[in-house]
Amino acid sequence: MNIERFDHEDALATTLATRTIEALSLNPRLVLGLPTGRTPVALYRELRSRSQRGHVDWSQVRTFNLDEFVGLGAGDAGSYRSYMQAELFDHVRIEPLNAGLPDGRAANLAAECARYERAIALAGGIDIQILGIGANGHIGFNEPADSLAAETHVAVLQQDTRAANAGWFGGHLSAVPTHALSMGMATIMGAREIVLMATGEEKSAAVAGMIDGPITTRLPASFLQLHSRVTVMLDRGAALRLA
Ligand code: F6R
Repeated sequence: MNIERFDHEDALATTLATRTIEALSLNPRLVLGLPTGRTPVALYRELRSRSQRGHVDWSQVRTFNLDEFVGLGAGDAGSYRSYMQAELFDHVRIEPLNAGLPDGRAANLAAECARYERAIALAGGIDIQILGIGANGHIGFNEPADSLAAETHVAVLQQDTRAANAGWFGGHLSAVPTHALSMGMATIMGAREIVLMATGEEKSAAVAGMIDGPITTRLPASFLQLHSRVTVMLDRGAALRLA
């Protein structure tokens, strides 16, 4: 793993925005895997302001988000689709059909998971997968467990994960869905390159376990040790427990 430390999360976001735009200009048909949550907010802010200021060609880019809450979709407050529209898609010239998320409102969730896997494969696979990490070591919504799912699946969210997401639901834990559709471990590991961002001390134990600990289903991010092109971008807080 290639570990990079930054003094401040804004410097991390700026660096990753620069690299993403460089990758886009080298390959206008780039396939990007994208996270939601608190961590990438600064990255999306940077990407949209640079896209508005200069020429960034999003017209052929395809994106696939990691996950979506079951029961939620476009127009629903709290859905990851709404988050992505507000944070990025509404501000750049991406083709709506090229901006993919699993459909949390699909009538047949198993069929929707299979469709999502096919869509990623049809796009030629993910070139760069950007990830956040849960304080419990999850990536996507692959939660710590005795076993992990390979492909896009219906994930049961742990209580601490739901609590961490309550801010997007007016602070009401009971409003946070109990299930999500999430890329699986093989979906994520299939990306040609992975960039994991982590900020804040509350992520430091998961980050240290991911980098220095054993590979275990109890800390799903530890499987990234097996990928040959992983960059981990950390602010001071997240790097606090590293040797
Ligand atoms: C979000 C996702 C999650 C988050 C993780 C960290 O699409 O897949 O794995 O990256 O829960 O969330 P934040 O950034 O809110 O701390």
